[in-house]
Amino acid sequence: MILLAIETSCDDTGIAIFKNKQMLSNVLMSSTLIHKKYGGIIPEIAARKHEENLLPCLKKAIKQARININDVSHVVYTSEPGLPGSLHVGKVFAKSLAILLKAKLIKVNHLCGHAFSFALTHKRIKYPFISLIVSGGETAICLFKNKNNFKILNKTTDDAIGEVLDKIGRRLKLNYPGGKSIDKIYNENKSKYQLIKHFQPEQPFSFSGFKTHVLNLINNKNIDRVEVASSVLRWIVDEILIKLNHYVKLFKVKVITCGGGVSCNSLLRKELIKVFPNVLLTDKKYCNDNAAMIGMYALIAN
Ligand code: KG4
Repeated sequence: MILLAIETSCDDTGIAIFKNKQMLSNVLMSSTLIHKKYGGIIPEIAARKHEENLLPCLKKAIKQARININDVSHVVYTSEPGLPGSLHVGKVFAKSLAILLKAKLIKVNHLCGHAFSFALTHKRIKYPFISLIVSGGETAICLFKNKNNFKILNKTTDDAIGEVLDKIGRRLKLNYPGGKSIDKIYNENKSKYQLIKHFQPEQPFSFSGFKTHVLNLINNKNIDRVEVASSVLRWIVDEILIKLNHYVKLFKVKVITCGGGVSCNSLLRKELIKVFPNVLLTDKKYCNDNAAMIGMYALIAN
Protein backbone atom coordinates (compact mmCIF):
# COMPACT_ATOMS: atom_id res chain seq x y z
CA MET A 1 0.00 0.00 0.00
CA ILE A 2 1.43 3.38 -1.01
CA LEU A 3 -0.62 6.31 0.20
CA LEU A 4 -0.20 9.88 -1.02
CA ALA A 5 -1.79 12.58 1.12
CA ILE A 6 -2.56 16.15 0.03
CA GLU A 7 -3.26 19.13 2.30
CA THR A 8 -4.45 22.48 0.88
CA SER A 9 -7.00 23.82 3.37
CA CYS A 10 -5.37 27.18 4.04
CA ASP A 11 -2.02 28.67 2.92
CA ASP A 12 0.26 25.60 3.27
CA THR A 13 0.57 23.15 0.37
CA GLY A 14 1.57 19.75 1.74
CA ILE A 15 2.18 16.30 0.27
CA ALA A 16 3.20 13.26 2.31
CA ILE A 17 3.82 9.68 1.21
CA PHE A 18 3.42 6.56 3.35
CA LYS A 19 4.37 3.00 2.49
CA ASN A 20 2.74 0.32 4.63
CA LYS A 21 2.06 2.90 7.39
CA GLN A 22 5.63 4.20 7.42
CA MET A 23 6.10 7.84 6.40
CA LEU A 24 8.60 8.19 3.55
CA SER A 25 8.30 11.92 2.85
CA ASN A 26 6.46 14.99 4.09
CA VAL A 27 6.91 18.10 1.95
CA LEU A 28 5.52 21.54 2.72
CA MET A 29 5.47 24.69 0.58
CA SER A 30 3.93 27.72 2.22
CA SER A 31 2.64 31.01 0.81
CA THR A 32 2.96 32.68 4.25
CA LEU A 33 5.65 35.12 3.06
CA ILE A 34 3.26 36.56 0.47
CA HIS A 35 0.45 36.96 3.03
CA LYS A 36 2.91 38.60 5.43
CA LYS A 37 2.74 41.75 3.26
CA TYR A 38 -0.99 42.05 3.98
CA GLY A 39 -0.83 40.99 7.64
CA GLY A 40 -3.26 38.12 7.04
CA ILE A 41 -4.19 35.38 4.56
CA ILE A 42 -5.76 36.50 1.27
CA PRO A 43 -7.89 33.47 0.20
CA GLU A 44 -7.65 34.12 -3.56
CA ILE A 45 -3.84 34.30 -3.41
CA ALA A 46 -3.68 31.17 -1.22
CA ALA A 47 -5.74 29.18 -3.76
CA ARG A 48 -3.59 30.34 -6.70
CA LYS A 49 -0.39 29.46 -4.84
CA HIS A 50 -1.67 25.92 -4.19
CA GLU A 51 -2.24 25.52 -7.93
CA GLU A 52 1.36 26.67 -8.53
CA ASN A 53 2.94 24.67 -5.70
CA LEU A 54 1.19 21.31 -5.97
CA LEU A 55 3.23 19.89 -8.85
CA PRO A 56 6.70 20.89 -7.48
CA CYS A 57 5.59 19.62 -4.08
CA LEU A 58 4.52 16.29 -5.61
CA LYS A 59 7.82 15.91 -7.50
CA LYS A 60 9.82 16.59 -4.33
CA ALA A 61 7.74 14.18 -2.25
CA ILE A 62 8.12 11.40 -4.85
CA LYS A 63 11.88 12.00 -5.08
CA GLN A 64 12.36 11.98 -1.30
CA ALA A 65 10.23 8.86 -0.87
CA ARG A 66 12.11 7.09 -3.72
CA ILE A 67 8.96 5.54 -5.09
CA ASN A 68 7.50 5.18 -8.55
CA ILE A 69 4.39 7.35 -8.80
CA ASN A 70 2.57 4.54 -10.64
CA ASP A 71 2.77 2.45 -7.45
CA VAL A 72 0.57 4.89 -5.49
CA SER A 73 -2.52 2.92 -4.43
CA HIS A 74 -4.39 5.55 -2.38
CA VAL A 75 -4.77 9.31 -2.84
CA VAL A 76 -6.01 11.21 0.22
CA TYR A 77 -7.04 14.87 0.36
CA THR A 78 -8.43 17.38 2.84
CA SER A 79 -12.09 17.91 1.97
CA GLU A 80 -13.27 20.32 4.75
CA PRO A 81 -13.25 22.68 6.64
CA GLY A 82 -11.00 25.39 5.18
CA LEU A 83 -10.86 28.17 2.60
CA PRO A 84 -13.22 27.10 -0.23
CA GLY A 85 -10.85 28.05 -3.09
CA SER A 86 -7.85 26.33 -1.47
CA LEU A 87 -9.85 23.16 -0.74
CA HIS A 88 -11.16 23.10 -4.30
CA VAL A 89 -7.68 23.23 -5.86
CA GLY A 90 -6.57 20.30 -3.66
CA LYS A 91 -9.69 18.29 -4.46
CA VAL A 92 -9.37 18.69 -8.23
CA PHE A 93 -5.66 17.78 -8.06
CA ALA A 94 -6.37 14.70 -5.92
CA LYS A 95 -9.24 13.51 -8.11
CA SER A 96 -7.21 13.88 -11.31
CA LEU A 97 -4.26 12.05 -9.76
CA ALA A 98 -6.48 9.21 -8.51
CA ILE A 99 -8.05 8.76 -11.95
CA LEU A 100 -4.65 8.81 -13.70
CA LEU A 101 -3.09 6.35 -11.25
CA LYS A 102 -6.20 4.19 -10.85
CA ALA A 103 -5.82 4.75 -7.12
CA LYS A 104 -8.48 4.76 -4.42
CA LEU A 105 -9.60 8.29 -3.48
CA ILE A 106 -10.13 9.07 0.22
CA LYS A 107 -11.29 12.37 1.72
CA VAL A 108 -10.31 13.48 5.20
CA ASN A 109 -11.82 16.10 7.49
CA HIS A 110 -9.11 18.60 8.42
CA LEU A 111 -10.21 18.59 12.10
CA CYS A 112 -9.60 14.81 12.25
CA GLY A 113 -6.13 15.42 10.80
CA HIS A 114 -5.25 17.83 13.62
CA ALA A 115 -6.95 15.68 16.27
CA PHE A 116 -4.86 12.62 15.30
CA SER A 117 -1.60 14.48 14.52
CA PHE A 118 -0.32 13.30 17.93
CA ALA A 119 -0.33 9.76 16.46
CA LEU A 120 2.60 10.66 14.19
CA THR A 121 4.79 10.39 17.28
CA HIS A 122 2.65 8.61 19.93
CA LYS A 123 1.77 5.18 18.59
CA ARG A 124 -0.86 4.08 21.13
CA ILE A 125 -4.36 5.46 20.67
CA LYS A 126 -6.92 5.00 23.43
CA TYR A 127 -10.59 5.92 23.05
CA PRO A 128 -12.52 7.90 24.07
CA PHE A 129 -10.40 11.03 23.94
CA ILE A 130 -11.02 14.74 23.91
CA SER A 131 -9.11 16.81 21.41
CA LEU A 132 -8.39 20.52 21.59
CA ILE A 133 -7.93 21.92 18.08
CA VAL A 134 -6.56 25.45 17.93
CA SER A 135 -5.31 27.04 14.73
CA GLY A 136 -5.66 30.08 12.47
CA GLY A 137 -9.05 28.89 11.23
CA GLU A 138 -10.34 26.51 13.91
CA THR A 139 -11.03 26.58 17.64
CA ALA A 140 -12.84 23.47 18.80
CA ILE A 141 -13.05 20.83 21.50
CA CYS A 142 -14.07 17.44 20.07
CA LEU A 143 -14.94 14.10 21.66
CA PHE A 144 -13.69 11.06 19.74
CA LYS A 145 -15.61 7.93 20.82
CA ASN A 146 -13.68 5.95 18.24
CA LYS A 147 -11.71 6.61 15.06
CA ASN A 148 -14.77 7.38 12.93
CA ASN A 149 -17.16 8.81 15.47
CA PHE A 150 -16.60 12.31 16.73
CA LYS A 151 -18.73 15.05 18.17
CA ILE A 152 -17.86 18.74 18.33
CA LEU A 153 -18.49 19.71 21.97
CA ASN A 154 -17.60 23.36 21.59
CA LYS A 155 -16.41 25.57 18.79
CA THR A 156 -15.96 29.24 18.20
CA THR A 157 -18.96 31.24 17.12
CA ASP A 158 -16.75 33.90 15.54
CA ASP A 159 -12.95 34.28 15.34
CA ALA A 160 -10.50 31.41 15.80
CA ILE A 161 -7.74 31.83 18.39
CA GLY A 162 -4.89 32.00 15.84
CA GLU A 163 -6.79 34.64 13.90
CA VAL A 164 -7.25 36.76 17.06
CA LEU A 165 -3.57 36.46 17.97
CA ASP A 166 -2.57 37.40 14.41
CA LYS A 167 -4.88 40.44 14.36
CA ILE A 168 -3.76 41.69 17.78
CA GLY A 169 -0.12 41.02 16.81
CA ARG A 170 -0.56 43.11 13.68
CA ARG A 171 -1.97 46.02 15.70
CA LEU A 172 0.97 45.70 18.12
CA LYS A 173 3.27 45.89 15.05
CA LEU A 174 4.72 42.45 15.71
CA ASN A 175 6.00 40.16 12.96
CA TYR A 176 3.45 38.03 11.07
CA PRO A 177 2.11 35.59 12.16
CA GLY A 178 1.23 37.37 15.40
CA GLY A 179 0.60 34.12 17.30
CA LYS A 180 4.21 33.08 16.97
CA SER A 181 5.49 36.58 17.86
CA ILE A 182 3.23 36.85 20.93
CA ASP A 183 4.58 33.47 22.07
CA LYS A 184 8.15 34.80 21.77
CA ILE A 185 7.61 37.99 23.78
CA TYR A 186 5.30 36.50 26.45
CA ASN A 187 6.50 37.34 29.94
CA GLU A 188 4.69 35.84 32.93
CA ASN A 189 5.41 38.85 35.13
CA LYS A 190 3.98 41.27 32.61
CA SER A 191 0.51 39.81 32.29
CA LYS A 192 -0.99 42.82 34.12
CA TYR A 193 -4.11 43.90 32.28
CA GLN A 194 -7.50 42.86 33.61
CA LEU A 195 -9.25 42.01 30.34
CA ILE A 196 -12.90 40.94 29.96
CA LYS A 197 -14.52 38.38 32.30
CA HIS A 198 -14.19 34.74 31.26
CA PHE A 199 -17.23 33.02 29.73
CA GLN A 200 -19.08 30.23 31.53
CA PRO A 201 -17.43 26.85 30.80
CA GLU A 202 -20.37 25.50 28.78
CA GLN A 203 -20.80 28.64 26.67
CA PRO A 204 -19.41 28.44 23.13
CA PHE A 205 -15.99 29.93 22.48
CA SER A 206 -16.23 33.55 21.33
CA PHE A 207 -13.34 35.91 20.73
CA SER A 208 -14.64 38.84 18.68
CA GLY A 209 -15.71 40.88 21.75
CA PHE A 210 -12.41 40.08 23.43
CA LYS A 211 -10.51 41.13 20.30
CA THR A 212 -12.42 44.45 20.05
CA HIS A 213 -11.74 45.11 23.74
CA VAL A 214 -8.00 44.57 23.25
CA LEU A 215 -7.85 46.62 20.02
CA ASN A 216 -9.63 49.51 21.81
CA LEU A 217 -7.16 49.23 24.66
CA ILE A 218 -4.27 49.50 22.20
CA ASN A 219 -5.92 52.51 20.48
CA ASN A 220 -6.77 54.44 23.61
CA LYS A 221 -3.87 53.94 25.99
CA ASN A 222 -0.18 54.46 26.02
CA ILE A 223 0.51 50.76 26.28
CA ASP A 224 3.52 48.53 26.75
CA ARG A 225 3.17 45.93 23.99
CA VAL A 226 4.79 43.12 26.00
CA GLU A 227 2.24 43.75 28.77
CA VAL A 228 -0.68 43.65 26.32
CA ALA A 229 0.64 40.57 24.47
CA SER A 230 1.30 38.72 27.74
CA SER A 231 -2.14 39.57 29.18
CA VAL A 232 -3.86 38.50 25.93
CA LEU A 233 -2.09 35.15 25.81
CA ARG A 234 -2.77 34.49 29.52
CA TRP A 235 -6.49 35.26 29.03
CA ILE A 236 -6.76 32.99 26.00
CA VAL A 237 -4.94 30.08 27.66
CA ASP A 238 -7.13 30.43 30.79
CA GLU A 239 -10.26 30.49 28.62
CA ILE A 240 -9.16 27.24 26.94
CA LEU A 241 -8.37 25.57 30.27
CA ILE A 242 -11.73 26.51 31.81
CA LYS A 243 -13.64 24.92 28.94
CA LEU A 244 -11.38 21.89 28.50
CA ASN A 245 -11.56 21.10 32.21
CA HIS A 246 -15.35 21.30 32.08
CA TYR A 247 -15.66 18.73 29.25
CA VAL A 248 -12.99 16.41 30.63
CA LYS A 249 -14.93 16.21 33.92
CA LEU A 250 -18.35 16.02 32.24
CA PHE A 251 -17.38 13.08 30.00
CA LYS A 252 -14.95 11.54 32.53
CA VAL A 253 -12.36 11.26 29.79
CA LYS A 254 -8.78 10.34 30.67
CA VAL A 255 -7.04 11.01 27.36
CA ILE A 256 -6.60 14.53 25.99
CA THR A 257 -4.91 15.43 22.72
CA CYS A 258 -4.07 18.78 21.23
CA GLY A 259 -3.23 19.94 17.70
CA GLY A 260 -3.26 22.90 15.30
CA GLY A 261 -0.82 25.78 14.74
CA VAL A 262 -1.59 27.46 18.10
CA SER A 263 -0.73 24.21 19.94
CA CYS A 264 2.95 25.13 19.27
CA ASN A 265 2.46 27.81 21.92
CA SER A 266 4.84 27.45 24.85
CA LEU A 267 2.48 28.75 27.55
CA LEU A 268 -0.41 26.60 26.31
CA ARG A 269 1.79 23.47 26.22
CA LYS A 270 3.17 24.16 29.71
CA GLU A 271 -0.28 24.73 31.23
CA LEU A 272 -1.83 21.69 29.50
CA ILE A 273 0.88 19.44 30.92
CA LYS A 274 0.41 21.00 34.36
CA VAL A 275 -3.39 20.54 34.43
CA PHE A 276 -3.60 17.26 32.44
CA PRO A 277 -0.32 15.36 33.01
CA ASN A 278 -1.40 12.68 30.50
CA VAL A 279 -2.06 15.08 27.64
CA LEU A 280 -0.74 13.85 24.28
CA LEU A 281 0.76 16.93 22.67
CA THR A 282 1.44 16.91 18.96
CA ASP A 283 5.13 17.22 18.14
CA LYS A 284 5.79 20.87 17.25
CA LYS A 285 6.78 19.99 13.70
CA TYR A 286 3.30 18.59 13.03
CA CYS A 287 1.20 21.30 14.76
CA ASN A 288 0.85 23.61 11.75
CA ASP A 289 -1.05 22.42 8.68
CA ASN A 290 0.73 19.50 7.00
CA ALA A 291 -0.09 16.47 4.86
CA ALA A 292 1.50 13.95 7.24
CA MET A 293 -1.44 14.29 9.65
CA ILE A 294 -3.96 13.90 6.80
CA GLY A 295 -2.24 10.70 5.68
CA MET A 296 -1.97 9.43 9.26
CA TYR A 297 -5.70 9.87 9.87
CA ALA A 298 -6.55 8.12 6.59
CA LEU A 299 -4.36 5.17 7.68
CA ILE A 300 -6.01 5.01 11.09
CA ALA A 301 -9.58 5.38 9.87
CA ASN A 302 -9.52 3.08 6.81
O1 KG4 B 1 -2.69 25.13 11.85
P1 KG4 B 1 -2.23 26.34 11.13
O2 KG4 B 1 -0.94 26.22 10.40
O3 KG4 B 1 -3.26 26.75 10.03
C1 KG4 B 1 -4.27 27.63 9.98
O4 KG4 B 1 -5.38 27.29 10.40
O5 KG4 B 1 -4.00 28.75 9.46
O6 KG4 B 1 -2.17 27.52 12.20
C2 KG4 B 1 -1.67 28.79 11.94
C3 KG4 B 1 -1.88 29.65 13.18
C4 KG4 B 1 -1.58 31.13 12.98
O7 KG4 B 1 -2.69 31.88 13.41
C5 KG4 B 1 -0.37 31.37 13.89
O8 KG4 B 1 -0.34 32.65 14.47
C6 KG4 B 1 -0.55 30.31 14.95
O9 KG4 B 1 -1.02 29.18 14.25
N1 KG4 B 1 0.71 29.98 15.63
C7 KG4 B 1 0.93 30.18 16.94
C8 KG4 B 1 2.26 29.76 17.20
N2 KG4 B 1 2.79 29.29 16.03
C9 KG4 B 1 1.82 29.43 15.09
N3 KG4 B 1 0.14 30.69 17.90
C10 KG4 B 1 0.65 30.77 19.15
N4 KG4 B 1 1.91 30.38 19.47
C11 KG4 B 1 2.74 29.87 18.53
N5 KG4 B 1 3.97 29.47 18.85
